[in-house]
Amino acid sequence: MSVTIKTAEEIEKMRVAGRLAAEVLEMIGEHVQPGVSTGELDRICHHHIVEVQGGIPAPLNYGNPPFPKSICTSVNHVICHGIPSDDKILKKGDIVNIDVTVIKDGYHGDTSKMYFVGEPQPHLERLVRITQECLYKGIELVRPGTRLGDIGHVIQQHAEANYYSIVREYCGHGIGAVFHEEPQVLHYGRPGTGMELKEGMTFTIEPMVNAGKPQSKLLGDQWTVVTRDRKASAQWEHTLLVTATGVEVLTRRQEESF
Ligand code: MF3
Ligand code: CO
Ligand code: CO
Repeated sequence: MSVTIKTAEEIEKMRVAGRLAAEVLEMIGEHVQPGVSTGELDRICHHHIVEVQGGIPAPLNYGNPPFPKSICTSVNHVICHGIPSDDKILKKGDIVNIDVTVIKDGYHGDTSKMYFVGEPQPHLERLVRITQECLYKGIELVRPGTRLGDIGHVIQQHAEANYYSIVREYCGHGIGAVFHEEPQVLHYGRPGTGMELKEGMTFTIEPMVNAGKPQSKLLGDQWTVVTRDRKASAQWEHTLLVTATGVEVLTRRQEESF
């Protein structure tokens, strides 16, 4: 399949799925505390998605080997796809990305945010803030006529201007009835290159920014991705719709102003 342009009916379903995914991130915030396990966070999100929202957690049994949990929890030097576990207890000073994908009425909403466990060290707070700014700078460019390379470039520039690095091995993606569809949305690139955005496209931007070097390593569980230098990594993600005049952030949270 190539890039899909969503119909009005599909867009309405994407809005619902996106809102539900955003609500999970809003709901889980108060539970991210020193002493909680990522396994417990997974159970709380699973229950909310299935029992409260009537949705399906897309990560559960996704891929090969099947992902074993309902959310991804990526702590400190874990870049992405961390597997929740009762043995992983969050402690003061940790940073954790929670990545939620909800399927509702056959359509996906995919979003992640960073949480601080207790008071953050200033260098980690800065990494998390700059990474969020990378996402927002990408979102600002989304409208018909923008090219994917324009988005990748602005994200890469902002990260590297702050002496951070961009993870190359993983990227954003088209999304809809399929979790990961075309196009690939790279978080680096050159202006004026790549596919041109069109009204009705839906895709994610989800930059992974490393405090140290860009290289990643896949652990033996075949999911968990860590930084090779074991320095910290941050990620933020939204699902976006290209509108006639700009962008609609389908996974916007109440704390966000756009
Ligand atoms: N939510 C991730 C993304 O942003 C994908 C997770 S796949 C999983 O694309 F199987 F690890 F959950
Ligand atoms: Co995604
Ligand atoms: Co995601």
